[in-house]
Amino acid sequence: MEIIDVRLAQRSYPIYVEPGGLDHLGALYRRHGLGPRAALITDELVRPLWADQALQSLESSGVETLLITLPPGEEHKSLVSADHLYEKLIEAGLDRKATIIALGGGVIGDLAGFVAATYLRGVAYIQIATTLIAQVDSSVGGKTGVNHRLGKNLVGAFYQPRLVLIDPGLLRTLPMRERWCGMSEVLKYGLIRDLELFEPLESELTDLVELRDLEKLSRIIARCCQIKAAIISQDERESDLRRLLNFGHTIGHALEAASRYALKHGEAVAWGMLAATWLSFAKGSLDEGEWARITHTLEKIHRPALGAYDDQTVLKYIHRDKKVQDGRIHFVFLHGIGEAFVCPEVDDQDLRDALGYLRTRDATRA
Ligand SMILES: NC(=O)c1ccc[n+]([C@@H]2O[C@H](COP(=O)([O-])OP(=O)(O)OC[C@H]3O[C@@H](n4cnc5c(N)ncnc54)[C@H](O)[C@@H]3O)[C@@H](O)[C@H]2O)c1
Ligand SMILES: [Zn+2]
Repeated sequence: MEIIDVRLAQRSYPIYVEPGGLDHLGALYRRHGLGPRAALITDELVRPLWADQALQSLESSGVETLLITLPPGEEHKSLVSADHLYEKLIEAGLDRKATIIALGGGVIGDLAGFVAATYLRGVAYIQIATTLIAQVDSSVGGKTGVNHRLGKNLVGAFYQPRLVLIDPGLLRTLPMRERWCGMSEVLKYGLIRDLELFEPLESELTDLVELRDLEKLSRIIARCCQIKAAIISQDERESDLRRLLNFGHTIGHALEAASRYALKHGEAVAWGMLAATWLSFAKGSLDEGEWARITHTLEKIHRPALGAYDDQTVLKYIHRDKKVQDGRIHFVFLHGIGEAFVCPEVDDQDLRDALGYLRTRDATRA
């Protein structure tokens, strides 16, 4: 089992990564000295797949567990769901010694984490990440929260779990489209920080997504967690270092919104990384060979076509984004594979050029 320590002032916690790790949930729970009662929060799709195994492991370690199931989907990451959870916890008489365990992707993780942060002013929290996005991104860093009808992730708190459990075997049941979304973020880590991580992805991307080598994927997931943990522990709130994690996201987020979420986050980010890589080349920070090499790998990410959108709409979303400060866009560029930096010198014409470039890539796919 690989253990990654997320070191944050007084709130450090371990991430355990191992194929088959779900069977160790009860033992890990006990090792961390958590109370005798827990609530396992999951969604209707994950419940029939993995909840019994989690419950059995907890039961065999003597943990009394209340199972709460929510409908799946981003629209349920809401205050309405949070309220429903509070009600179940109160009705069951769960007190301050209780532990909330999230079993699911980023939606369940963000929501259950937020409820753990706020129920009785904070109870212990464990996250079991069941999607690749959750395993490499949302379970690291302690951002919890829900959406508001006026916007995504507008209500939340920084709240660290006691531990995170990642069992890459759980990805077996995850639809391919969701796996590719996660793989897009995995590539991001290689591109911004780690050539050694990028290399196996370059040669074996599809095999990895098809879970042909779980041990190798497990090491890759652990490496992604390590990279994110290292960045956020140096820089817990947003600033330049943390901004590197936004590689591909300035344009990506805007495309995601402009498509009215027909593009999933990871898919939009794959497009966004293609644009950012091209802009790095066009503005002279990346040489042509590296640009071609990166683009070759990014093009392998399965994703829908961009379809019709107009530049003005995309630009509008970019300017609305919280990554734009004082009217300046903090755009993440590459010097090379594994070397990213923040450049505040990107203007609307650069963005239009990048969107024009994406259209040419989109056309070659047709
Ligand atoms: N907190 C953070 O730092 C952070 C970072 C990135 C994303 N997020 C949030 O994460 C959310 C997206 O997370 P996601 O991509 O994991 O989506 P998700 O939680 O909606 O999961 C995607 C789908 O896969 C299903 N699923 C989950 N695990 C499965 C499994 N093992 N087998 C079969 N089906 C499974 C879910 O039921 C859901 O339908 C967004 O709300 C986003 O804001 C948070
Ligand atoms: Zn992302």
